[in-house]
Parts: sequence; C-alpha cells; structure tokens
Amino acid sequence: MKQVNKAAELTAAVEEAKKQGLEIGLVPTMGALHEGHLSLIERALKENDLVVVSLFVNPIQFNNKEDLEKYPRTIDADLKLIESLIGRTECRAKELLAFTPTVDEMYPDGEPKEVYHFGPVEEVMEGPRRPGHFSGVAVVVRRLFDLAQPKRAYFGEKDYQQIAVIRSLLAQIKYPIELVPCPIVRADDGLALSSRNMRLSPAARQMAPAINATLEQAAEMAEYEEVDDVKEWVLDTLASWHEVNDCADGLRFEPEYFEIVDAITLQPIADWDEAGELGAVGCIAVWLDGVRLIDIVKFQ
Ligand code: PAF
Repeated sequence: MKQVNKAAELTAAVEEAKKQGLEIGLVPTMGALHEGHLSLIERALKENDLVVVSLFVNPIQFNNKEDLEKYPRTIDADLKLIESLIGRTECRAKELLAFTPTVDEMYPDGEPKEVYHFGPVEEVMEGPRRPGHFSGVAVVVRRLFDLAQPKRAYFGEKDYQQIAVIRSLLAQIKYPIELVPCPIVRADDGLALSSRNMRLSPAARQMAPAINATLEQAAEMAEYEEVDDVKEWVLDTLASWHEVNDCADGLRFEPEYFEIVDAITLQPIADWDEAGELGAVGCIAVWLDGVRLIDIVKFQ
C-alpha cells in the first residue's frame, strides 16, 4: 500500500496506471474506517487493478460545525486497517493507494464556489434537514473522480440518499463511471456500522440495535399493513421505546424522520404498488444520546 497526500502524486500514479490500461476503483471515505468501509475496499480490490481509497473529512459537506469538529479522525488506525485487508482478500488489484489530502490540498483556492442541484431526490429526507450537504458531497466526489479517474466508484447503502445524489451527479457531468452501491454491514446485534457509533455511551450502544430490530419488524408488517400504518408504527415504537423498555436514565430515541420511498426516485409512496422495479426503501434518522443515527430497510 502506498500513501499519498498530494493531488499531483495521485494524478501521476493514475496517469501511469492508465498508460498500462489498468482499471481503477475508487472508494471515497472520510476515514474512521469500520468493517462497512472495509467491505467496500475489499470489493474494489476484487474488481479493479488499482484501488484508490480517499480519506478526507470534507468540511464543506457539514452544515453543523460541531458535527465537523466531533467527527472522529483516526488516520493511523485507518491506514493499518486498510493494510490488513491486503492479506485477507483475494485481490485482482496489484496496487492500493491511500489518498490523504489536507483541506488546502483539496481546495487550494479556498472554499469552492460551485453548487450542485439534484431536484426531487434531494428535496426529501436529509436534503431539507442538512442544507448544502449534498452539494458539498458532490463537489468533493467530483474532485475525487477528476483526480482518480475511476472506472468504478463504491458507496455504502447506509447513506442511501447519497447514492441517488451521486447517480444524478454522474448523469449531470456525464462521466462514464460505474456506481457500485454496497450493502450495509451490521454489528452482530444488527446495528448498522457507522463512524458515529463510537460516540454512543455504553448504555446507548446497547439500546441502538432497537432501530434495526424495529425496521425488520416493519418489513414483516409491510406484507399486510398499509404504508402509512407502517410509518406511524415505526415512529411510535421508537419514540415510546423508553416507556416500555428498561433504559438508562434519560436515554430515549428521538426519531427525526422515517420515510418510505421509491428505491430509485426517493419520492415517498402512499401505496406499496407505487414503488417501481426496485421496490420501496424505508429510510430513518434517529437521535440517541446526542448522536444522529441513520439506517434503511428494503421492502421487496
Ligand atoms: O459517505 C461519505 O463518507 C462521504 O459523504 C463521502 C462520499 C466520502 C464524501 O465526502
């Protein structure tokens, strides 16, 4: 594995790889890696000749300053984890490059001015609640696309709406990059792995798997209940969790939203039949112990 901090070093490695006709896979991350990220990297290592993993906490996608400050930065541990994959995975890739730029390296002219719009896919769920977030994601992802020139780019389905936004970005900028969505990796107790989980107190961490458990039950209910009833049940179940379960003092779930949407357009559906070919997805954001957790469930 090679680590590079400079955009020019990445471009040089990419140009060399392109000359040799190698296929490049890109895994964009903000570091604080966990098994979910590693599953993306493993997949990229199997499907490409050169894999670029970027580790960059992108300030312009945080609409909340405190969230940016609290975002875990664990670069040394991250690099060790990436390195550990090399023996663990049967790879097609001969080379793995970790790209760890500074903010000035990524944005040498200061805060980028460009703004992206994605229409209806960003007007729901995370979009209105995190103004500017998806545009900030698009700016950095496009820059990474320009530098790494990947054939394939890997994104986790936990950030489900982000995938729809990247799909729209690719259509807008007309880059022939294959978007590879990868399934959520969960802890043994069902909690979706997230860099934010490390901010949960032990008591909150014990409670958090109830989110996935509730969503799994919702998937079963979908076979005989209406969309609105399933939605209401999920929100009520989590909001009243502390009343019916033995929870540590003051700990409670505060659901921000739970929407049932078409898997591609991300538009809310009122009836199960309204979902297109890929079915419906339930997307949730819940506060617990001062940490905002998100998760999804697929209704097939
Ligand atoms: O999903 C993330 O970690 C980030 O949004 C991404 C895609 C790395 C862009 O900063």
